[in-house]
Amino acid sequence: MRRPLNQIRACASRTAQPRWRRNSAARKLVFASHSVALIILAGCWQQALADPGGVTNIFKPLSEPAQEIKETSILVMVICGVIFSIVAGLLIYTIVRYRHRGGDETTEPPQIYGSNQIETAWTVLPILIVFVLILVTSRTIADVQNRKAPTGAIHSTVVGHQWWWEIRYPELGIVTANELHVPASTESSQQPTYLKLQSADVAHSFWVPQLNGKTDLIPNRENNMWIAPTEPGTYLGNCAEYCGTQHARMLLRVVVQTRSEFEKWVKEQQQAAVEDPGAAEGRKIFFGNSCVSCHAIRGTSAKGVFGPDLTHLMSRQTLASGTTPNSHQTLRAWISDPQQLKVGCLMPNMQLSDKEVDQIVAYLETLR
Ligand code: CUA
Repeated sequence: MRRPLNQIRACASRTAQPRWRRNSAARKLVFASHSVALIILAGCWQQALADPGGVTNIFKPLSEPAQEIKETSILVMVICGVIFSIVAGLLIYTIVRYRHRGGDETTEPPQIYGSNQIETAWTVLPILIVFVLILVTSRTIADVQNRKAPTGAIHSTVVGHQWWWEIRYPELGIVTANELHVPASTESSQQPTYLKLQSADVAHSFWVPQLNGKTDLIPNRENNMWIAPTEPGTYLGNCAEYCGTQHARMLLRVVVQTRSEFEKWVKEQQQAAVEDPGAAEGRKIFFGNSCVSCHAIRGTSAKGVFGPDLTHLMSRQTLASGTTPNSHQTLRAWISDPQQLKVGCLMPNMQLSDKEVDQIVAYLETLR
C-alpha cells in the first residue's frame, strides 16, 4: 500500500535533521556551550576596554595618524554594523515567522521568481555603499601618506631582523635596538618622527596600535610612516607579520618623551661606550670571542652588524626584543644560553664557563 505524501514528507524532514536537533538534551547542551562562549568573548572585550594600558588599544589613539584611522574605522564599523543588523534581523524574522508548523506538510510556500525592483535595489545599494567606503578610506590613506616632513622633524630608520628591531637616527649618530625614542608633540609645536622602514631578511610589520596603523618592512624596499604622539609614555607594539619561530617575541617599545627629556636621551646615546677598568677581564673575554663579529660597541673595535648595538645596552628596558626585562639575572641567563630564553634566535650558546659568563655580564653592565 502506498503511504500518503504528507507522511513521507514528515518522515523525511525528521531523518534529515541532525541528531542533536532531534534530541532536546543535546539541543540544550549546544545552546549552553554557545552562551558560555559568548559570555567569555564579552568578558575579553570588556577587559580590553577597561585596561587599555595592558592591551594596546586602537580605540585609544594618542597620535595623529592613529586618530584619523580610528575615525575611519568607526565609520566603516557603523556602516557594516547597520548592514549586519538588517541582514541578521531579516534572517531571524524569517526563521521564526516561517518556521515549520504542524499541519502544513501538504502545502508549498508561494514560489516567487524575478522582481526587477528587488534585484535593482540589492545591486545598486551595495555598489553605493562600497563606493562611499572606497572614498572615505582613500582620503584617509592619502592624507596620512602624503604628509611631508616639516623642518625640525626627527628622522629614524627602523630595520626589521629575525627577531629584533634595529633603530638608527642617521642625523643624530645614534644606533639602538627595540626601543624607539621620540619627542612628544604639544598643541603649540608639532614634533613628528618620520620612519624609514627596511628589512634585513624577511617581511616584518611595524605596528604600535595607539600611534599608527601597520606598515610592512619588506626586503629590498623602503616603506615610510610617521607618528606624532601627544602624550609622554611607553607605547607597546609588535611585529604584525609572521616572520618565523620567534615572531611573537619581536616586541617593540616607543618611548615618548618631552622635548627636554628626549634631548637628554640623545646626548647620552651619542656618548661613546664607557671604559671601566673594573670590568677589564670581561672586556677581554668579550673581545676574544666571536661576540664582536655580530655586535658593535661604539668607540671600540667591535663593529658587527648582525646583532643589536651594545654601546648603551643597559639603558634599554628589555632584552631580546621584549622577551624579558633587562636585569642582572636575565642578562646572565641570556649570555649563558640565549636559546633557553628565545629558541631559534640567531645568537648561539657560546659554551662559556660560569666564571666567564659572570665576567662578560660585569662588562656589559658597564655599558650604560
Ligand atoms: Cu618580525 Cu613577525
